[in-house]
Amino acid sequence: MTLLALAVSGRGVVDPDEPAVFADDEGFLRGRAAFETTRVYGGKPFRLDEHLERFANSAARLNLPPLDRPLFHGLTAQALAAAGRPDCFVRLYLTPGREGRDRPVSLVLVESLPPELEETRARGIRVISLPLGLEPSLLGGVKSTSYALNMVAVDEAKRRGCDDAVFLGPQGVVMEGPTTNIWWRSGNVLYTPALELGILQGVTRGALIELAVDRGYEVEVGVYPLTALAEAEEAFTSSAVREVMPVVALDGKPIGDGAPGQAARELQEELRRCASSS
Ligand SMILES: Cc1ncc(COP(=O)(O)O)c(C=O)c1O
Repeated sequence: MTLLALAVSGRGVVDPDEPAVFADDEGFLRGRAAFETTRVYGGKPFRLDEHLERFANSAARLNLPPLDRPLFHGLTAQALAAAGRPDCFVRLYLTPGREGRDRPVSLVLVESLPPELEETRARGIRVISLPLGLEPSLLGGVKSTSYALNMVAVDEAKRRGCDDAVFLGPQGVVMEGPTTNIWWRSGNVLYTPALELGILQGVTRGALIELAVDRGYEVEVGVYPLTALAEAEEAFTSSAVREVMPVVALDGKPIGDGAPGQAARELQEELRRCASSS
């Protein structure tokens, strides 16, 4: 991934290779900042208003100043125009700014897509389960920049020869991935964990719930043990950048026949179709 363009509140488009935040920005010092990641298809961010809604909620839960949605619309358009890349993704950040100065900073970063995505989708990913055992916290479901645990979880998966992780909550229930929501299929039913567990309300998850029903699947949202995922016929993750990513193994054992599954393939197609027609 490469940073292609950057737009900053009060400055507009700036050189992405020059610093844009101060050393005493609270987002850096304390990890108190909200962010969003949105896939851009044909120059248009997918479901940007839903991302801005979640962004506004994250900002409120982090006690940041209210989100200025028109500002983010403007910065996103400017940054995308500067990048000139129709297929890419944007990351939106709101930080409280420098400590004690009451001047929030809004940033929009345009980035290139990871080059290996389609190759990874074709082979499917291997995941490990990581018990966190944490009860939903004050910041459950908030997309804040305090993502060190999530990033270290991916590192741990790689250290064990896998691609990604799945977090387990109290009593070992399945939660979500470090940057994804998790799904699996048994027969015609697709399962995904409930938001009440304190997981992130994925915009892609929301889109897939609609698309899966249109495609003739039943969708069940609930609280499930790890065995439900382990014994499924297929599994996949969902996220804005990686879209629908088949999961072919869990903790060293194949899921289903150990190959990317039919629902993952169909929903990936549906998601692309939906994104290109919206
Ligand atoms: C913890 C977590 N869960 C789920 C998701 C998927 O959300 P979305 O589909 O909006 O990208 C993300 C994506 O950023 C995430 O960080």
